[in-house]
Amino acid sequence: MAKFWYLVCMITFLELSKLAISRPEQVPTPPLPVLPLPTFSQLKWQRRELIMFLHFGVNTFTDSERGTGKENPSIFNPVGLDTKQWVTVAAEAGISLMILTAKHHDGFCLWPSKYTHHSVISSPWRNGHGDVVQEFIDSVKTHGGGGIDAGLYLSPWDRHDKRYGHDLQYNEYYLAQLQELLTKYGSVKEIWFDGFKGKDAKNMSYYFSDWFAMVRELQSSINIFSDAGPDVRWVGNEKGFAGNTSWSTINSTLLSIGNASIGDYLNTGDPKGTNWLPAECDVSIREGWFWHKSQSPKKLSQLLDIYYNSVGRNCVMLLNVPPNSTGLISESDIHRLKEFRAAIDTIFSTNLAEKCIVKVSSQRGGKGGGFGPENVLDNDHVWTYWSPKENKNEHWIEIKVPNGEEGMKFNVVRIQEPIGLGQRIIKHEIYVDGKKVVQGTTVGYKRLHRLEKVLHCRAVRIIVKESKGLPLISSIGLHLDPYWKP
Ligand SMILES: *[C@@H]1O[C@H](CO)[C@@H](O)[C@H](O)[C@H]1NC(C)=O
Ligand SMILES: *[C@@H]1O[C@H](CO)[C@@H](O)[C@H](O)[C@H]1NC(C)=O
Ligand SMILES: *[C@@H]1O[C@H](CO)[C@@H](O)[C@H](O)[C@H]1NC(C)=O
Ligand SMILES: *[C@@H]1O[C@H](CO)[C@@H](O)[C@H](O)[C@H]1NC(C)=O
Ligand SMILES: *[C@@H]1O[C@H](CO)[C@@H](O)[C@H](O)[C@H]1NC(C)=O
Repeated sequence: MAKFWYLVCMITFLELSKLAISRPEQVPTPPLPVLPLPTFSQLKWQRRELIMFLHFGVNTFTDSERGTGKENPSIFNPVGLDTKQWVTVAAEAGISLMILTAKHHDGFCLWPSKYTHHSVISSPWRNGHGDVVQEFIDSVKTHGGGGIDAGLYLSPWDRHDKRYGHDLQYNEYYLAQLQELLTKYGSVKEIWFDGFKGKDAKNMSYYFSDWFAMVRELQSSINIFSDAGPDVRWVGNEKGFAGNTSWSTINSTLLSIGNASIGDYLNTGDPKGTNWLPAECDVSIREGWFWHKSQSPKKLSQLLDIYYNSVGRNCVMLLNVPPNSTGLISESDIHRLKEFRAAIDTIFSTNLAEKCIVKVSSQRGGKGGGFGPENVLDNDHVWTYWSPKENKNEHWIEIKVPNGEEGMKFNVVRIQEPIGLGQRIIKHEIYVDGKKVVQGTTVGYKRLHRLEKVLHCRAVRIIVKESKGLPLISSIGLHLDPYWKP
């Protein structure tokens, strides 16, 4: 009997070892990237989609958009300031990064900088012992549930400080403040620079190279925003609209900060660009950047237009929501933000394509190779994707309602590229039941095509007409937007 079991064990062992020796079928590798690529922090930034800007300072108390620098700090007294409220409002709007104006052009500092008295220390607020930046950072950490990050804006133009206009002294002052902000408050994920200058100080030079190098040294995962990057670029206008063609790539060598003549180039990017420098679309929920009693928030339809023209055009939407003179975000803004979030959720929570059959012109590595059409319907919009085979001259993907089931009704087509491998698609077309409805250009991280009317159909085919390297698609959505009345 023992001999019998011995034999059984031996045979099993031999069979198993045969299995171990036989080589597994080779898994197809991902295609090579198309350079340039986003950095880790740029990729994280892009996936945020919505960012909040908070313009707050002496202008909040003077009904002004641009302070003179002569404001008396005694006017700064936001008696009900509660940064936890700001964070709660952002979290409920699905926003994961908030950028505060630590100093605007008027030069008043929201933190107790040791290099000037023109700050919260000279104000009656918290008897001169307050620090708005600290409270903001603390609330982001404790109230953001781990899902919210902080960013800061420090205006280069300073209409208060006497050193402004004297290159060396002012640049030293500016750098000193930058060091305070980037060492005292923990991790900062975005820093915002603009190139504004006073009319009386046009020959003032900003030492951007020094500033950027210092930022890099002090913060490892920060994105630096300016007209010209180096991590995030301006979109070229303050309407929040990106170009119909929108590349994350551009040539940095053609950019300069504060140069109005490069607006169009910033707006569309450059298909041949050698730098990954995606655009951020800054816009205010109200007419002004600062809070004014007389202003009210934009209509929901306007915010949705901006969303489609920024997030829906491969960019990030930076929406300014200004706290009022009590130190709180106004009820009317909160209400509009809730509507905005609810609308986005309503439109995009249902993807009609999920119930469909997806067919493709070809697929890398064949069926089961890991690059099939099923990847465009999963929840990963960056690292799983459909890839066609090399050397095919036609690339298409088709979403089709199964036989016997009812057709679908939609008015929005969402297409996403796995930008971790570079932005590739140059031209694409969309056919609905055989009829061309979209003649499109770039896609990028996210492209939303809002159609002129609700379509009732059975098949949607996306054809990639031109791309840099193999076209790859990470996600497709067919959605119904009930708010859209063209
Ligand atoms: C800026 O220009 C003014 C004259 O317009 C001159 O007096 C001043 O020295 C200049 N400043 C610098 C830093 O070059
Ligand atoms: C502004 O941009 C234009 C177009 O690229 C360029 O010709 C010009 O030199 C730039 N001006 C400055 C001050 O950098
Ligand atoms: C950007 O740089 C690339 C590579 O040098 C070049 O081919 C392209 O023409 C440049 N774009 C512009 C607008 O000059
Ligand atoms: C600021 O907004 C809050 C609501 O969040 C409101 O209670 C307060 O009255 C507002 N302050 C002003 C000055 O309007
Ligand atoms: C943008 O592109 C779409 C096709 O994607 C086209 O129908 C539309 O006319 C373009 N709009 C503008 C403003 O160029």
